[in-house]
Amino acid sequence: MTSGEAPPLYGPGFDRDPAPAYHWLQEHSPVHRVEFGPELSAWLVTRYTDVVAALADPRLVKDPARGCPVWRESGMGLPLDHRPSLAQHMTNTDPPRHQDLRRLASGQFSPQRLSALETRVRQVTGQVLDGIAPLGRADLVQDVAYPISTTIICELIGIPAQDRAQVQRWAAVIDASDGSDRDDLVAATDAIDEYLAALLAHKKAEPGDDLMSDMIRQRHRGEMTDEELTSTAFLILIAGHETTTALVGSATLAALTHPDLAARIRADAGELAVFVEESLRRDCPVRNVSWRFPTEPMQLGGQDLQPGDPVLLSILAANRDAERFADPDAFRLDRDPEDHLAFGRGRHACLGAALARIQGATVLGELLRRFPDLALAEPEDQLRWWPSPIIRGLFALPVVF
Ligand code: HEM
Repeated sequence: MTSGEAPPLYGPGFDRDPAPAYHWLQEHSPVHRVEFGPELSAWLVTRYTDVVAALADPRLVKDPARGCPVWRESGMGLPLDHRPSLAQHMTNTDPPRHQDLRRLASGQFSPQRLSALETRVRQVTGQVLDGIAPLGRADLVQDVAYPISTTIICELIGIPAQDRAQVQRWAAVIDASDGSDRDDLVAATDAIDEYLAALLAHKKAEPGDDLMSDMIRQRHRGEMTDEELTSTAFLILIAGHETTTALVGSATLAALTHPDLAARIRADAGELAVFVEESLRRDCPVRNVSWRFPTEPMQLGGQDLQPGDPVLLSILAANRDAERFADPDAFRLDRDPEDHLAFGRGRHACLGAALARIQGATVLGELLRRFPDLALAEPEDQLRWWPSPIIRGLFALPVVF
């Protein structure tokens, strides 16, 4: 790469190791114009200081209605334009409504609830690992991380066990979409919307101990509509299972390729949390936080932005910025653990961060404890990474043990 040409920001090489492209952008074009079509472009922000500034800037809002018209009419807007009953959640909302919507779901992440969730994560992890133990080999993404994450998130929402495989298939289409497979995306969003509306009706009649029922009980406080409840359930589903699956896959790969560090975790469980934090930093499961739009002309990283311009903040790139993290591409346990941006920052910071950390530490810890000979079944450079524009995670992680 010369300093004159921008590197490709897609393709298997980029999915496997995006760091060289991000380092180039940080040096030569830190607020970079990315073309998604003849008329649709966005600003991609890659430097740590610019991403941190943008996350705190009230002039950058999330409400899609404030984005440019081309963006709203394009496939990038799905499912926002297509199914409003999936789009009225906290991530598409600005103050003051944002706080009401966030409060509606916050009860699921109270210390008491998290303690119960931790127990459940341990049980489910134990059951899934019991299932693979006699086999001697497994795909840790599809056979371990996915089923654990899906079970936990579906139980939390109140989705019955018999529906989970189908719901996960729809969610996978939505998570992986870059807008080009519009028919599949429309079909998946239609199906999931109808499913969540039916689930809401069912929970109104027969409430349980879950997010959906809890939201129904609390809705009078903020005068919530049915659409706001189904949107919130949809957000938690999408935000909460591919991400943790990606974390488990990346953290386990790091352990398998850094046996000295894995030995430290095996010897001292206290190191596990630090290891998970470094995995979140280096292999940030979310590439870019969702769109933000300037409400007025503004400058970011020396670039002029116009009202409505879509802005993408790359937290994966920011977490690899050499100006902030020495030796940024190395996996090290001696860093400032809390300063990465994997869970975003500010009012939209991840609501499920504590649950994600519990899952990451529990699954990795149990894998290392129960399978002392755990090893990669394929060379690292043959592993496939998801081509998703949102998630950075392994598609499969074949291991032997
Ligand atoms: C928001 C990352 C797991 C629920 C976010 C944001 C990030 C993020 C970066 C900020 C988005 C923005 O500013 O636009 C992650 C990662 C996870 C994870 C890396 C796993 C390793 C979860 C889980 C749940 C969850 C398990 C729920 C059970 C949410 C919600 C928001 C959010 C509801 C929206 C908050 C708001 O807009 O106020 N997440 N997340 N996340 N996350 Fe997570």
